[in-house]
Amino acid sequence: MNPVKIGIAGLGTVGCGTVDVLIRNADEIARRAGRGIQVSRALVKNISKDRSCDLNGVELTTNPEDLLNDPEIEIIVELMGGDSGIALELVQGAIACGKHVVTANKALIAVNGNQLFAAAQKKGTMIAFESAVAGGIPIIKVIREGFSGNVIRRLAGIINGTGNFIMSEMRTKQRSFQDVLVEAQDLGYAEADPAFDVQGTDAAHKLTILASIAFGIPLQFSHVYTEGIDKIESEDVEHAKTLGFRIKHLGIAAQVTDGIELRVHPCLVPENRLLANVEGVMNAVLVDGDAVGPTLHYGAGAGAGPTASAVVADLVDVVRTLTTDPENRVPHLAFQANSLSDIPILPIDEVSSAYYLRLNAINRPGVLADVTRILGDLNISIEAIQQKGDGSPDEFLPIVILTQVTLEKNMNCALERLAQLETVNSDIVRIRLENLNWS
Ligand code: HSE
Repeated sequence: MNPVKIGIAGLGTVGCGTVDVLIRNADEIARRAGRGIQVSRALVKNISKDRSCDLNGVELTTNPEDLLNDPEIEIIVELMGGDSGIALELVQGAIACGKHVVTANKALIAVNGNQLFAAAQKKGTMIAFESAVAGGIPIIKVIREGFSGNVIRRLAGIINGTGNFIMSEMRTKQRSFQDVLVEAQDLGYAEADPAFDVQGTDAAHKLTILASIAFGIPLQFSHVYTEGIDKIESEDVEHAKTLGFRIKHLGIAAQVTDGIELRVHPCLVPENRLLANVEGVMNAVLVDGDAVGPTLHYGAGAGAGPTASAVVADLVDVVRTLTTDPENRVPHLAFQANSLSDIPILPIDEVSSAYYLRLNAINRPGVLADVTRILGDLNISIEAIQQKGDGSPDEFLPIVILTQVTLEKNMNCALERLAQLETVNSDIVRIRLENLNWS
């Protein structure tokens, strides 16, 4: 049988990695897919740029139409990134031409996925996006297919390799934020705009996708509460360590009584949890299904090989189902398109969590009593409290407090009242804390 011809858009780290894997493992891939997979054209910004991969037999072009108008190309692999512009137009064009799409573009799926999937369903084409979340970990397939017998209760993950790499290097090697970020960019981990990594946007894109396939809800990127790692201070990393915790940047989605929690933020995690020990560019996703219980999925979340592994797996999946009746394929978002639920995403004010607080307060009798009274008045229970310093009177000393689980809106109110105390510096650090005690 003739090989399936594909067009790749983007020959950066992931594009070249994909070409490499397709060449290196061509026989194995063909044995799995039932047909060979051959890159016939590639869309690039600059044709004359030096590239590390073997492009023998690949026609380079700067014109997306060359891929769309080639009747021999059955699958477009979109590896350019971005939720608009050429990436969106190319995917829309591919669907309109009846071509299948494989994409690593989480922003595109998180922001435009509802419309793109509807258009693809009408046309009977597939959009595969395994590589969009957690790099080489096949987490989409796990949740969408492996756990289809479960009601998924919750998931929590380290889903941005760059952020985790930065946090790990800062904690273990005392390196500066900027220095580590530059290395992550050199290694091809970081987004074109690294603010997406450090401000949490990239993780929010990925969490949007995971929540959708876990709970059977439409993609709702704009409803994700998002905080990055850019405000984490080394002082808090040290305090957390003393208390037996590590600070990790987590994406959390959970079905609770009144709706769905969807949040990305730094989080204290007990140091003995597996998730707390995921270091460097590695990702891990903890998924809790009612039948299977808690499961942990670990692997490289970024980089050429791991991401290419997921792109090629999608290609094999698409090739295997080219002749399947579209109605009988796995639905894009795991649940049948007409069976998605409208359960609301909870505003962060309505989410419950435990907290780590650090405030600087004057070392004077009664100050701690004022602080604990404010928390008590708002029904916030204290789990632990620690004041450090040499005890000189009337000096500002850091007080670290761990609270029990409380509603975010109560904590916000407490923070406002604490900031008004004359004896407390108004710059109060608040980091959420998750015990992840799911067993
Ligand atoms: N910038 C992303 C990360 C790449 O660091 O995880 C993979 O999506």
